[in-house]
Amino acid sequence: MYVLNARLAMVLPAGSDRLRGREMDTVPREITDGWMRIGDDGMIEALGETGSLDMSETEGHETVDARGGYVLPTFCDSHTHIIYAGSRDGEFLDKIRGLSYEEIARRGGGILNSADRLHDCTEDELFRQSMARAQMMVAKGTGAIEIKSGYGLNTADEFKMLRVAARIRESLPAHVKITFLGAHAVGREYTGRQSEYVDMLIADMLPAVAAEGLADYVDVFCDQGFFTVEETDRILTAAARYGMRPKIHANELACSGGVQVGVKHNALSVDHLERMGADEIDVLRSSATVATMLPGASFFLGMPYAPAKDAIKSGLTVALASDYNPGSSPSGDMRMVWALGCIKMRLTPTEALAACTVNGAAAMALSQTTGALSPGKEASFVITKPVPSLAFIPYEYTSPWLESVYIKGRKI
Ligand code: NIG
Ligand code: FE
Repeated sequence: MYVLNARLAMVLPAGSDRLRGREMDTVPREITDGWMRIGDDGMIEALGETGSLDMSETEGHETVDARGGYVLPTFCDSHTHIIYAGSRDGEFLDKIRGLSYEEIARRGGGILNSADRLHDCTEDELFRQSMARAQMMVAKGTGAIEIKSGYGLNTADEFKMLRVAARIRESLPAHVKITFLGAHAVGREYTGRQSEYVDMLIADMLPAVAAEGLADYVDVFCDQGFFTVEETDRILTAAARYGMRPKIHANELACSGGVQVGVKHNALSVDHLERMGADEIDVLRSSATVATMLPGASFFLGMPYAPAKDAIKSGLTVALASDYNPGSSPSGDMRMVWALGCIKMRLTPTEALAACTVNGAAAMALSQTTGALSPGKEASFVITKPVPSLAFIPYEYTSPWLESVYIKGRKI
């Protein structure tokens, strides 16, 4: 298949699997009038300037006319909690009336509210609701999704979530990576006994999850009022025995030490980072850990935005993700995340797009496969309506600029 009359963006040299610091702006190439050839195996075989294509080569092949619209790699959303039952719109009203995220959690709302609803929901119904969210994300241009557990908080319900995640992985055309987040909050049966919950998680949950091969990664909400650095260290030490790499919730509510403990355990990413200082940036600079930031949560909760610009200036690999969940970010729209990256974090449109694509893929260990337009990567891309520039997309951030979505060479 050939895509013709295309403005190709996020074109990277073959083999590039992450962009660090200023590279996020300088390395991606744009081809204003280009073409792309896609093999029957759904991989990008070649791309280039229109002038370089001998049109006779296209004879006998399917062609797609992009009509001057952009062709962008699909988004790689490396941090979501899309498996949940119902919603938390009641807490939305509490928030409007002035309660903070932590106050709502202390009153038994928040994560435990979602855990109660999930407990009462059948597995099939949970799949139906969660799959609909995943499909909506793909329709909005996302081609790779990380999905966390963490609303079960006991072995049976965590397993229910992880099985639903596996069903989504089987049913969705997009890539799905699955993360075990048993340490998202203390389950109700263990109220007031946090250290016993952690003991149980290490002794029972983690080995069972590993034995069934239900998760790729492990996560801990390492933050003020949730799990301590010591508890996180114990959980990650145990998970390493099963070969589960960490992706940590860190520094959302306080300078929690989560970045340091994540890097110590060779985390694939540390995520949130709204309260990050120079120490955290230094620790990340000398590591391979991706700094993942979630501007949708800052937007929804009225929190400070993570210092993405400083992190980029310091040479970090920065990713942006949606954090799609019912409490702090009820949206999986990466177009909005891209726009928030520009509007609120002052990233250039190219930096923010790199954070939403190739670096998001790196945060899921998928960047050899997807996240950029390069020969040898999968042909997962969106075509936009004709727009004046790349900047126009996050600038006119509610306009319906998306024309079509292709995953592995197939139109969705
Ligand atoms: O990433 N911060 C912790 N976990 C989620 C929110 C979960 C919830 O409120 O349901 C987050 O923001
Ligand atoms: Fe999260």
